[in-house]
Amino acid sequence: MKKIIVAIDGYSSCGKSTVAKTLARQAGYTYVDTGAMYRAVALWAMENNAMEPEKIIPRLQEIHISFIQTEEGQHTCLNGRDVEREIRRLEVGNAASQISQIKEVRAYLVALQQAMGREKGIVMDGRDIGTVVFPEAELKLFLTASPEVRAQRRFDELIEKGETPDFAAVLADVNERDYRDTHRAESPLRQAEDAKVVDNSHLTREKQMEVIYDLFKEAIDR
Ligand code: DC
Repeated sequence: MKKIIVAIDGYSSCGKSTVAKTLARQAGYTYVDTGAMYRAVALWAMENNAMEPEKIIPRLQEIHISFIQTEEGQHTCLNGRDVEREIRRLEVGNAASQISQIKEVRAYLVALQQAMGREKGIVMDGRDIGTVVFPEAELKLFLTASPEVRAQRRFDELIEKGETPDFAAVLADVNERDYRDTHRAESPLRQAEDAKVVDNSHLTREKQMEVIYDLFKEAIDR
C-alpha cells in the first residue's frame, strides 16, 4: 500500500500527540514527536550551560537525538541516554520554548526530521511540520480547540496529579503560549493552506479519530 507523510500541527494542549500516536498505531507508521526533540536539545543546553545562541550554535553537532521503543511506549534519547522523564519537566518545556526561537537550532532539527521522513510511513507532530518540514506532505492536519476547552483539559490533568490549580491562571497560560507560538519570528505556528482543520472542542476522542482516519484513508487512496 502507498505510504505517505502525515503532518500534524496545532496549538499546545489540543491533543496533537495523542492523535499522532493513535494514527501511527492504526496505520502501522512511525511516530515522531518533534516537541520532544526541541525539549531534548533544551535539556542538553541546560546541562551544558549553553542556553545562549552563541554557546549552543557551534556545538549543535554534539547533540544526538533518537527514539527507542520501551514497554511504556516511545522514549526520547539524548546522546544515547533515555531522557523521556526529564524532558517533560516544566522548566525543560520553558527552555525548549526559548531555544526553539534560535534559527540555527531549528535548521538543525528540521534537517533531522526531514531525514526521518525520507522513507515516508511517518506521522510527525509539532508546530511547523506542514509549513516548513514537509510542505509536500500528503496529509496535513491542523488541530484546534477553544482556549477554554484546552485550559479545562490541562486543569483536569493538574488536578489528577494532585495539584491545586487556579483555572484563570491556567487559561491565561494557554493564551500566552498561543500568542508566543504564533508570533515568534522563526517559523511561527500557522495553518498550511491545504491543511484539514479539525476542531476537537466538542468531539469525543473516538469521534475525532474516526474523522481523522477517514481523512487518512482518503489521502492514501488519492
Ligand atoms: O509540543 P511541546 O510542548 O513538547 O513542544 C516543546 C516546545 O518546542 C514548545 O515551546 C514549542 C516548540 N516546538 C517548536 O517550536 N516546533 C516544533 N515543531 C515542535 C515544538
